[in-house]
Amino acid sequence: MKVLLTGDRGQLGTALRATLTDHDVTGFDLPEVDITVKEALFTAVSAAKPDVIIHCAAYTNVDGCAKDPALAYRANGLGTQNVALACLEFGAEMVHVSTNEVFAGDRPDGYEEWMTMNPVNAYGRSKAAAEFHVRNILPRHYITRTAWLYAPGGRNFIHAILNRARDTGQVRVVVDEVGNPTYANDLAQAIAQLIETHQYGTYHFVNSGATSRWEFANEILRQAGLETIVNTPILSKEFKRASTPPPYAALHNIAGQAIGITLRSWQAALAAYVQEHIAA
Ligand SMILES: NC(=O)c1ccc[n+]([C@@H]2O[C@H](COP(=O)([O-])OP(=O)(O)OC[C@H]3O[C@@H](n4cnc5c(N)ncnc54)[C@H](OP(=O)(O)O)[C@@H]3O)[C@@H](O)[C@H]2O)c1
Repeated sequence: MKVLLTGDRGQLGTALRATLTDHDVTGFDLPEVDITVKEALFTAVSAAKPDVIIHCAAYTNVDGCAKDPALAYRANGLGTQNVALACLEFGAEMVHVSTNEVFAGDRPDGYEEWMTMNPVNAYGRSKAAAEFHVRNILPRHYITRTAWLYAPGGRNFIHAILNRARDTGQVRVVVDEVGNPTYANDLAQAIAQLIETHQYGTYHFVNSGATSRWEFANEILRQAGLETIVNTPILSKEFKRASTPPPYAALHNIAGQAIGITLRSWQAALAAYVQEHIAA
């Protein structure tokens, strides 16, 4: 299959390149192609002639989105609309990558694929707009929602915790934000399985099980051999930031499981990641 990746040097794009070795994969990122510039995007898609575009490009700085919601909509909403229009024009399927932040985070039991989006911050609103455009424009689409992604070299929670622990000898972490830590390699493998199915629709692809940021930090420190670091639980209201994350926005992978696509537990994925990229 000819696969085109948007945002191919980000966390997920890099993992997909390493995973999709049986396919003919090309891709682009900023600055060479900006998805908000429709003509440049159409030229790139026309040249690549993909069977499927896996759309990983996004403005993922949630606090940046809160400070500049218009920029967030431009990159995530309008940019995704352009990608869906390009798929329609050039006959490609589309995998759109979305987020647990399209939900309000008011369900301690978590969210299934069919539940109503109700984002509470600018990043979530821009990603909900993206989903809206994909569903309206392109019948042959997959929407894959994920959460708390991590990968080597990425800007992510694991590296933030380890850097803080090593620099200061202690960490303070919010206990009232719950989600699903997800290894980008595992998401990439799930997407690789999904594109073989042509079973279009909306999927939650997260490592299974849910946890708080605080428990996740505990497990990171334990698995990295830093269990002596003091990890103090705090409430979100004590951690000032521009964006307000949804408090209980864990996802359940129901639709994927029904067609045989499962992801291992978040603890097993973290153990593999620590072994492959931190302990080594
Ligand atoms: N990271 C998470 O925790 C998380 C959680 C849930 C869902 N997601 C979703 O998963 C997908 C992949 O996330 P990720 O962690 O791999 O993100 P990432 O590491 O931030 O990579 C995104 C890439 O897209 C590029 N990009 C940004 N704006 C662009 C534009 N206008 N045109 C072309 N490229 C652009 C970025 O370039 P620059 O670096 O130069 O900006 C970056 O290389 C995104 O859709 C994200 O919303 C992520």
